[in-house]
Amino acid sequence: MIRTVTLNPALDKTLEINNFEIDDVNRVSSVRIDAGGKGINVSKLIKILGGRSKAFGILSGRNGDYIKEYLDKAEIENDFVYAEGETRTNLKIIDSIRHTNTDINEPGPYVPYDKIKELERKIFGAIGENAVLVLSGSIPKSVSTDIYYRWIDMAKKLKVRVVLDCDGELLKKGIKAEPYLIKPNINELEELLGRKVSGMDDMIKSARELLRSGIEVVVLSLGSDGALFVKDGCTIHAKGVRVDVKSTVGAGDSMVAALAFALDEGMSFEKAAALSAAAGTAKVTTSGSQPPSMDKIMSIERLVKLDYIK
Ligand SMILES: Nc1ncnc2c1ncn2[C@@H]1O[C@H](COP(=O)(O)OP(=O)(O)OP(=O)(O)O)[C@@H](O)[C@H]1O
Ligand SMILES: [Mg+2]
Repeated sequence: MIRTVTLNPALDKTLEINNFEIDDVNRVSSVRIDAGGKGINVSKLIKILGGRSKAFGILSGRNGDYIKEYLDKAEIENDFVYAEGETRTNLKIIDSIRHTNTDINEPGPYVPYDKIKELERKIFGAIGENAVLVLSGSIPKSVSTDIYYRWIDMAKKLKVRVVLDCDGELLKKGIKAEPYLIKPNINELEELLGRKVSGMDDMIKSARELLRSGIEVVVLSLGSDGALFVKDGCTIHAKGVRVDVKSTVGAGDSMVAALAFALDEGMSFEKAAALSAAAGTAKVTTSGSQPPSMDKIMSIERLVKLDYIK
């Protein structure tokens, strides 16, 4: 079974505003509220793929209650720790006339150390060998940036495979504990390596370099250019599929969900590449943080072309 962790969840409030203007009164044409945060998004997509996951994390206040109810209703298993304060609200303003997506993200509440320890006990409680643990997204300001490093280290000792999707210090420190799989995008890879990465050859070389640090699988997501899937002895480029783009928000989460699902199901590397590229692409066809349907994912999967790179 897959476990996902969301240390800084959010209530995603998506507002559709035509001709959105700063410094003016704007009229909202539709409002949508979703339980969000990277780990929660991953759990939602695993459910759509027909898999099972349990969502872990920290919730606070009324927004926290809303998220808990949302997950229960969606029949996504969950076990959250409750802390003081209020889970953040992330505002997403979509303007379909001007084709803009504006995100206004709150920082989230202060989370004390004892709550993190309580969460740690839940995450690792009765976890079986070969389980898949997804560590993704940002963390509260009060939490140390070596948190994912520590949890990857603990997971490895229990033979649990970690899928890591984060950036900055979290990623830099996290990879030192040798997670099973990482899924940076180009910006995250460049930040990690401290240099520009340009052209396919450089991307392949850089991803292979990361394997040498003990990571089993590197998935480099390339937005509309698809993704590179690299493991020892095999490199695949899933070419981008052209679709009608509504919102690219959460494309990476969709891809991570499919990768975790593929690992848990024991799928081949090729199948994992095609499915996760399709899941990421299917996401960009929906607006806001709405997850794509299984039908959409499957129809796109048929269009994904895999290039095997020597
Ligand atoms: N514009 C697009 N057209 C087609 N496919 C896309 C597009 N954007 C993303 N994808 C698909 O989704 C995958 C993940 O997208 P991307 O590289 O943007 O991830 P990300 O930057 O991590 O996103 P996130 O904002 O969720 O963190 C890509 O590898 C690709 O397969
Ligand atoms: Mg991402």
